[in-house]
Amino acid sequence: MRKLVIANWKMYYGPVKAGAWIRAFRRERLPKDLDIGVAVPHVSLAAARSSLGRAGVPLLGGQDVFWANDGAYTGEISPAMLKEFGLSFCLVGHSERRVNLGETDEMVAKKAAALQKAGIQPVVCVGETDAQKKKGETLKVVRAQLAACLQGVKGDGAARPAIAYEPVWAIGSGKPCSPLDAKNVHEAIREVLVKKYGKASAQEIRILYGGSVDPRNVAEYVSTTHVDGVLVGSSSLDPRAFGMLCRAALPA
Ligand code: 13P
Repeated sequence: MRKLVIANWKMYYGPVKAGAWIRAFRRERLPKDLDIGVAVPHVSLAAARSSLGRAGVPLLGGQDVFWANDGAYTGEISPAMLKEFGLSFCLVGHSERRVNLGETDEMVAKKAAALQKAGIQPVVCVGETDAQKKKGETLKVVRAQLAACLQGVKGDGAARPAIAYEPVWAIGSGKPCSPLDAKNVHEAIREVLVKKYGKASAQEIRILYGGSVDPRNVAEYVSTTHVDGVLVGSSSLDPRAFGMLCRAALPA
């Protein structure tokens, strides 16, 4: 399976800054065998759509979505609307949304299933908090999140899900999860996927690691068993650092 690197711009770049990032990123040399995506804020989708492909980023993504295709849901954005922008994927259940907006596993499952219906790949984010890790509950928490977040989500087809394991304590902390710990969690995630979808489909589902990934540590993750790519926050904000990270992920 080709490795996948996704930049998550979070709430940083509006259309003007998005345009500047993309122009700068065009100068970066990128490995041909690497899949690269950027999850952009909704308001920057129009700016990104027209130029991201030319900058060597074929996969345009969103950071959130609502589960209905239309209706009286003020402020929300539907899967059909995202599809109009040609989105390939969309994050769902990022821990920042769970913490700041009370997003539940049930909501995440509805969003993921709705994205699939629109032909957009959901990237389902799971991960334990620091307190849960300290209590030794990592695998229990991640398994429970997966079971709930994948309710009604299909395991095959072009819009098959990807899973992002992002331990909450590792996000933006500069303290990444060790590759060995990530391997163990990813292995457990793969087991859940095999049970739910069967071996053939489960092997096609990418499991990404996210949390303080940078150009220096990315190669270690990407070469770890069951780590099919990375989801990158801080180190994706500087286009040169992100270019460096992509090259380090798959050295020539
Ligand atoms: P950092 O790379 O800044 O730790 O963020 C990770 C993340 O939340 C990506 O979704």
